[in-house]
Amino acid sequence: MPNLIEVKDLKVHYPIRSGFFNRVTDHVRAVDGVNLEFEQGKTYGLVGESGSGKSTIGKAIIGLESITEGSIFYNGDEVSKQAQKRRSNYRENVQMIFQDAMSSFNPKRRILDIMSEPLRNFTNMTPEEEKRRAIELLEIVGLSEESLYKYPHQFSGGQRQRIGVARAVALNPKLVIADEPVSALDLSVQAQVLNFMKQIQDEYNVSYLFISHDLGVVKHMCDEIAIMYRGRFAEYGNRQDIYENPQHIYTKRLLSAIPEVNPNNREANKRRRQEIAAHYDESSQHYFDTNGRVYDLKPLSPTHSVAVADLDKFRQEGDF
Ligand SMILES: Nc1ncnc2c1ncn2[C@@H]1O[C@H](COP(=O)(O)OP(=O)(O)OP(=O)(O)O)[C@@H](O)[C@H]1O
Ligand SMILES: [Mg+2]
Repeated sequence: MPNLIEVKDLKVHYPIRSGFFNRVTDHVRAVDGVNLEFEQGKTYGLVGESGSGKSTIGKAIIGLESITEGSIFYNGDEVSKQAQKRRSNYRENVQMIFQDAMSSFNPKRRILDIMSEPLRNFTNMTPEEEKRRAIELLEIVGLSEESLYKYPHQFSGGQRQRIGVARAVALNPKLVIADEPVSALDLSVQAQVLNFMKQIQDEYNVSYLFISHDLGVVKHMCDEIAIMYRGRFAEYGNRQDIYENPQHIYTKRLLSAIPEVNPNNREANKRRRQEIAAHYDESSQHYFDTNGRVYDLKPLSPTHSVAVADLDKFRQEGDF
């Protein structure tokens, strides 16, 4: 059985134009050679700082951004080109949720219309069936039937994100790409939205690609995590690999940036942060090439890989 979705050596470069003739003079290498494999029913995290290319990967997978190089396979069939995408049922099966649901909802339309839209585009449901499905979906994210007759501005931010989640799964997609779905919400509301996402996963066996700049947020959600640095992966591993045995200096720095809730650990955490900051520069040749990009990933174990110059040397010199 092929993996549900495979992304091979994906590159997305944006042209930079300048000068009088507006010629293309250079490129932003927003995504520069990444590989991903999605299995059914699992959650994948994509974590890195602002501008590292996370959203670009999401948009390239869903087809909102054109691919410079590389391919995407869906159930073993290539879907990287527009025509190939149309022939498969890929478009129904991959959906996206954005940071701010408000911006993807038409403010003049009621929730009933917003929820019915994907159903109308892709199914032959009658209006009565659409409504029943909308009620069922809203119920899963803890909203009542009355919500159907309200407008987006009548909901709180957390409620709107829940509606966004419900709409994204309306067609029973195989993969939902969630781009910072809770970043704009308060901590307590974040947990609530994440719980609903988990419940939906248990019910529909959907896979998630969960994008965040914060390793703390994805910790309890993700089975596997990619750490992204300037368009490339610095490290890839399962939850245990990344949180308990991080190897790349950049991963360590992201981990040390997670706010410490327990006041007893704050001092130790601060010392750790200073230690990593001090080590960052002196060890950079192991982790970054002369252009400041991370090396290709090298396997440490069947589940864990790290981008270092020389794996043997890295192993010998060990951790710090
Ligand atoms: N349409 C575009 N044209 C040119 N450059 C772009 C375009 N979209 C994104 N970029 C650049 O590509 C890089 C990656 O952007 P992207 O939005 O994928 O980052 P991100 O990791 O999602 O960041 P954030 O956490 O801030 O959302 C950035 O340097 C950005 O400036
Ligand atoms: Mg983004």
